[in-house]
Amino acid sequence: MNKTFEEAINFRHACKSFDPNKKISKEDMSFILNAGIKSPTSFGLELTKFIVIENQELKDKIKKESMNQEQVSECSHLLLVLVRINDSKIESGTPKKRFERLGLSSDILDIFLNMYTEFTKTHLISLKDIYNWTSKQAYLAVGNIMTAAAVKGIDSCPLEGFEKEKIEKLLNLDKTELQLALVLPLGYRTKSPRKSVRLSFDEMVDFI
Ligand SMILES: Cc1cc2nc3c(=O)[nH]c(=O)nc-3n(C[C@H](O)[C@H](O)[C@H](O)COP(=O)(O)O)c2cc1C
Repeated sequence: MNKTFEEAINFRHACKSFDPNKKISKEDMSFILNAGIKSPTSFGLELTKFIVIENQELKDKIKKESMNQEQVSECSHLLLVLVRINDSKIESGTPKKRFERLGLSSDILDIFLNMYTEFTKTHLISLKDIYNWTSKQAYLAVGNIMTAAAVKGIDSCPLEGFEKEKIEKLLNLDKTELQLALVLPLGYRTKSPRKSVRLSFDEMVDFI
C-alpha cells in the first residue's frame, strides 16, 4: 500500500546500504520516473534527462568513479540525472519546439521566444551557467523522485560524490549535448536508518 505524503517524508533517508537481491518492479519505476517528468521546469523547457542503469557491470564501473560508494553498485536501479546543454540554446531550435507545443498564436510564440532569448543573453552566457541553471531544475525533479519512491517504500540516496567527467566518458556522452548533474541509487534498505537530525522548526523558518 502507498505511504501517505507525511509517512513518505519520514521514511526517506539517504540510504547507504541497499539489498542487491531486491529489485524494483517496472510499475514502481514508472511511478517514480513520472514524478520526475511531471516536475516544474523553467519556461517549460524540460532540460532534464533520465538514464536508468540496471546493468551490474556498468553500475560497478560507475561506483569506482563515485568514491567507491557501495550504494551505487548495490542498488536495484541506478538513476543518472542529466541536463540537456545544447537544447537550452535558441539556435538548437529546441526552445521554439517546446513553446510550439503549447498551441500559442504566432504573436505570443514570438513574445515567449524573445523573452527566453533575452534571458539567455543575461543568464546563460557560459556553459557553466547553462549547467548550473539546468541542474537546479534537475534537482527539483530529484526531490519529487525521492518522495515518490518513498511513497512506494523504496529507498534512495542523492549523490554528488562522483567524478563527473569520468562517468560522462564511461557513458560516451557528448558534453555539448548532455552532462551529468546527480547520481541517485534506488532500491531497498538492508537496515534501519540512524536517527534523523534536523534543525528545529524555529531555527529553519521565519514568518515575517
Ligand atoms: C546534493 C546532495 C549531495 C549528496 N551527496 C551524497 C553523497 O555523495 N554520498 C552520500 O552518502 N550522501 C550524499 N548526500 C546525502 C546527505 O548526506 C543526506 O541527505 C544528509 O546527510 C541528511 O540525511 P538524510 O537525507 O538521511 O536525512 C547528498 C545529499 C544532497 C542533497
